[in-house]
Amino acid sequence: MKIGVFDSGLGGLVITKAFVEAMPEYDYIYYGDTMHLPYGEKTQEQILFYTIDAIKYLISQNCGLIIIACNTATSIALRYLQQRFIPTFAPDIKVLGVVIPTVEEAVLDNASRIGVLATPATVSSHIYQAELHKLKPKLEVFEFAAPKLVPAIEANDFASAKICAQEYAACFEDIDSLILGCTHYPLLKSEFRRILPKKTKVVSQDELMGVKLKDYLRRHIEIDISLSRGGKLQVLVSRMDEHYAKVASTLFPNIKIEEAK
Ligand code: DGL
Repeated sequence: MKIGVFDSGLGGLVITKAFVEAMPEYDYIYYGDTMHLPYGEKTQEQILFYTIDAIKYLISQNCGLIIIACNTATSIALRYLQQRFIPTFAPDIKVLGVVIPTVEEAVLDNASRIGVLATPATVSSHIYQAELHKLKPKLEVFEFAAPKLVPAIEANDFASAKICAQEYAACFEDIDSLILGCTHYPLLKSEFRRILPKKTKVVSQDELMGVKLKDYLRRHIEIDISLSRGGKLQVLVSRMDEHYAKVASTLFPNIKIEEAK
């Protein structure tokens, strides 16, 4: 069994890179649903539908552990998948998301005001606020949607993305931490760190997910022993576009992206 990683586009590749760096021995399949990107602007029904489809696809590709490396899909679909879909459709498969590990990391420092930047769908779900308050009820949480960032990053237009980052960073006042609540945003983490005051910690999922998954596998031996160790990574997308190869090669030189069949 392989480790499957799913995102709406190529943003989740930064999380995959974190996994591969922390645990190079496993076999990974990355699946980006580029045909339906961006998820952040879609309805809950659409996000749920596409996410279930992606999970079914990764299961058909022999993935035993699947990480939804997409905050939007995690916020809308993870609970349904874990409680309803997986127990009936594929009870041996484990599906995890990115929100809980991020929230656990964000509360480690003694922050009292936490900002969250995410897609419109993630912000409307208020998943970050709810999960942060479960751990620390008195936290002040400020959630803002950044609809312009994903399209700019997917188009590899970092000049526009940096201008948008400045605009969005200005929404937050006097926060102790900023959660980059979208897997596309780690590609702009240096920009956010440059713009925000020094005291504001930027919580970037590429810096925490590797350690979190490693720790999860250490605690779940029954899953760990079912995973194959061939050190391979396959990157698949639902719709191919020539610039995807360029984006992916900045993270994984020599990787060949293929259209999923
Ligand atoms: N990368 C996804 C996330 O983490 C969102 C991108 C999109 O809007 O499709 O939320």
